[in-house]
Amino acid sequence: MIALNSTAVAWVIFAIVTIGWITYFFLNKGSARAELGSEVEMAPNRKAYYDDEQLEGPRLERMQLLGVLLLVTLVIGLPLYWMFEPSRQAGAVSGEQERFRWWGEQLFETTANGGFNCSGCHGGMGGSGASAPYAITDPNTQEVTAVNWYAPALNTVFYRFSQEEVRFILNYGRPFSPMSAWGAAGGGPMTEQNIETLLVYLKSIQIKPEGCLGDSEFVNKADPYVCEGGTLPQTTQAEIQKSVDEYLAKNPEASEGEALFNSNLASGAYSCARCHTPGWSYDQPGVTAQGAFGWNLTGGATNSHFPNEQDMINFIKVGSKNGAKYGLQGQGSGRMPGFGHLLTDEQITAIVEYVRSL
Ligand code: HEC
Ligand code: HEC
Repeated sequence: MIALNSTAVAWVIFAIVTIGWITYFFLNKGSARAELGSEVEMAPNRKAYYDDEQLEGPRLERMQLLGVLLLVTLVIGLPLYWMFEPSRQAGAVSGEQERFRWWGEQLFETTANGGFNCSGCHGGMGGSGASAPYAITDPNTQEVTAVNWYAPALNTVFYRFSQEEVRFILNYGRPFSPMSAWGAAGGGPMTEQNIETLLVYLKSIQIKPEGCLGDSEFVNKADPYVCEGGTLPQTTQAEIQKSVDEYLAKNPEASEGEALFNSNLASGAYSCARCHTPGWSYDQPGVTAQGAFGWNLTGGATNSHFPNEQDMINFIKVGSKNGAKYGLQGQGSGRMPGFGHLLTDEQITAIVEYVRSL
């Protein structure tokens, strides 16, 4: 009963609402007025949009073309990028090396060219043949003499010293010689970064070992200026032989070992005398091998450090390493260069025989 009544009530309400809406629609339709401003077709600040003809024609095609292009970029471009990325990264590294080398070269320049004058003393490209004016004070008489001190060639310096040893020389210089301390660590004017770039430059001017040109297997890919292995170029070997011959021409009695020990004043690159004979580097040699920057090798003390000749040969091949022991109770400082990459085993043996006879 109650259910019947409520359904009836709902129907009545529905009928009233529906009729009401219909009446409202017809009444309202008749009385509606046009909206204010509706007589203006379009606001003056707007422009008509494309019509259908255009929207579905050229415009649509343009959009589709753009879509295809984007797809091509993704499908081809991404794999290409992925393929070339490793070589791009390698290129960035060698580009950095190239910039370092260039900055180092600026520092190496003569004073006139805005550099620190390394090349003024060590020759252009470190080839030496150059010397520097220097004042020597006699320790006994205090008399000051002006001399010309030959600077060694640097285009073979990495054949003699490790990178750390060269860094040490650049930082602290060679006391009692025209080679001053350049790094801030040694009280010099150069920052660590300056020294770093100089090292890259020095590496780049090293005479390339035979078989190290182009993309030979010896060239270190990570450090393109480093070449491991290969032998000293013929031209340098010939240069060594030439200076030995010149010495022998002047000193016919001398042995080959003596000639090698003393030869090559102008570049000093492979002589022993420049460090072991006082005054040798400014062409006023004192007693041979009596000790200067390098130790006194005369009088048998050195022989007793190396009871065995082969030990001495091995020492001269690799040089002294900082803190490492050598011979009998010797402790290296890293300042004695190694000659194994510059001289042949026969040449070193000849030198050792000469040194042992002193
Ligand atoms: C005033 C001259 C002079 C200037 C400038 C100079 N040097 Fe030297 N340098 C020398 C002399 C001389 C020696 C050798 C000293 C000796 O007899 O032990 C030497 C030694 C060296 C050595 C050690 C080489 C070896 O085999 O014993 C290196 C490396 C070197 N110089 C690099 C440089 C660099 C890099 C610069 C520039 C920042 C520079 N020098 C500036 C005169 C100079
Ligand atoms: C750049 C300078 C320099 C040159 C060039 C040099 N030496 Fe030395 N040499 C030293 C120094 C410095 C020492 C002392 C050891 C050390 O400090 O590690 C030394 C030590 C030695 C010793 C050991 C001495 C001992 O009694 O313990 C021998 C042997 C020696 N040198 C031979 C040679 C021979 C041979 C050559 C040439 C092939 C040569 N040196 C070239 C600097 C040099």
